[in-house]
Amino acid sequence: MREQLSPTDSSSNRFDRRAGTLGEAAKVHFHDLHPAPADMRADVHQGLSLPQKQLAPKYFYDAQGSHLFDAICELPEYYPSRTEIDILRRHGAAMAERLGRDALLVELGSGSSLKIRVLLQALRPAVYMPVDISKDHLLQSAEALAETFPALQVHAVCADYSVPFVLPVDDHEHPRAAFFPGSSVGNFEPSDAERFLLRVGGLLGPGGRLLVGVDLIKERQTLEAAYNDAAGVTADFNLNLLTRINRELDADFDLTGFRHSALFNPELSRIEMHLVSIREQQATVAGRSFAFREGESIHTECSYKYSIEGFHQLIRRAGFEPEQVWTDVDVGSDQTPLFSVHCLVWRG
Ligand code: TRP
Repeated sequence: MREQLSPTDSSSNRFDRRAGTLGEAAKVHFHDLHPAPADMRADVHQGLSLPQKQLAPKYFYDAQGSHLFDAICELPEYYPSRTEIDILRRHGAAMAERLGRDALLVELGSGSSLKIRVLLQALRPAVYMPVDISKDHLLQSAEALAETFPALQVHAVCADYSVPFVLPVDDHEHPRAAFFPGSSVGNFEPSDAERFLLRVGGLLGPGGRLLVGVDLIKERQTLEAAYNDAAGVTADFNLNLLTRINRELDADFDLTGFRHSALFNPELSRIEMHLVSIREQQATVAGRSFAFREGESIHTECSYKYSIEGFHQLIRRAGFEPEQVWTDVDVGSDQTPLFSVHCLVWRG
């Protein structure tokens, strides 16, 4: 079966690994589609030149950012992760039935690949293809996964999924499925989410299925606590963006001059994350200077919250049909769910 997959990157071999005594070769093929560092400089310059300064959330995920994000997922206030994992645990068998076995399973934004571990026994894909922007983190996680599941073919793809990319394998044998957990779909503007989902549909092809986690609308207090934890981990995560820019783009942000802010906007149904300048100041990034007024902010991320019906409307505009939805409350219960996991099928 492996012959039908053609790794495009000659660096694959560097990460090949033998599964020791098991006798079977368990390889992590690696495909590097990572954007050039020059793109980051251009993006940051452009974002800081806007009337509302902004930075793209994909730049959160350097090594330290990926590490801090894992810590966010463990926080008592950050209910989405544990709630989603619980839903995957309870309904993994039903999800596998929908997605089908022997698939080429693409995970978008795989991070530490922890959630897919819950599903792999039930899903039994032929190929697992984690896609993530954070290269070293991706490789370590893919290696660790291949060690636990030596029979699984793992193709790790370092790529920015917020822009178009093609799957670096030429595989027409397996049905395609995608996994997009963590409510990362909520980190797109709804119109961008629609465009993104259309591209995912294109990668899957008609009849391909997408399993996607979506955080649900709820009261302000719970939402704001999830993005503004008492231990300050989310604040560190947000501020790490400036640390990264200082290091990689020869910038001089004073980290004591900015504070983390995360507020719920109920009209737009989204958490808005900012880095707020606590005084008038200047910062230089790769030779260009940017001025900040006191209270002026850099917008770093939105996290949209949906109702199940609202999410269905969005995915239909991208050519998907809802097949099934699972939440953290049982069918027929009058409790309000926190989080939802959807199986969608692409109609094209
Ligand atoms: N997809 C996650 C979410 O929207 C991302 C996230 C969690 C995040 N906490 C964050 C992004 C803090 C920026 C800052 O919940």
